[in-house]
Amino acid sequence: MLKEKILSALNNQMNRELYSAYLYLSMAAYFESTGLKGFANWMRVQFQEELIHAMKFFDYIINRAVKAELLPIEKPPAEWKSANDVFQNAYKHEQKVTALINDLVNLSLSESDHSAVNFLQWFVNEQVEEESSFSDILNKLNLISDSKEGSFMLDREMSQRVFTGTIFTTQTKPQAPQNAQ
Ligand SMILES: [Fe+2]
Ligand SMILES: [Fe+2]
Repeated sequence: MLKEKILSALNNQMNRELYSAYLYLSMAAYFESTGLKGFANWMRVQFQEELIHAMKFFDYIINRAVKAELLPIEKPPAEWKSANDVFQNAYKHEQKVTALINDLVNLSLSESDHSAVNFLQWFVNEQVEEESSFSDILNKLNLISDSKEGSFMLDREMSQRVFTGTIFTTQTKPQAPQNAQ
């Protein structure tokens, strides 16, 4: 059985993942409004990636035989100064999420919850990828600076990102009876 302290921390992290999804969808809306459709596409894919993260927490909580609690989702910012400003903020946000995941691992270790520690390893690795993909784009934006041609090229590159995951799991589907004749 999941300890109350860890359950509450997992519910909070599910909420932070939903906030991440919301933040990136808001960034997609911002890019749509500025005509950078490729950047908007990249953020739409990131929105879906974050929904997967939230669903992983949802499913894990359910697998531990407790009810997942859905908390209110904070309103994300809606305006930024530039694409560079967006990615600076997104990168900072991912660094915050990494710190939250590390805190969760520390809590699970201190409570000797080895299952939770094991579950969280996926997120520990994922955050390395998340931080690196955001900082890569930030580096490119710094390189192109004010170049219109550069931002056109980068926008085209960002339009290539495709979502390949599955958000909705099927694990709650009823199991076939074991001894069916
Ligand atoms: Fe995430
Ligand atoms: Fe993320």
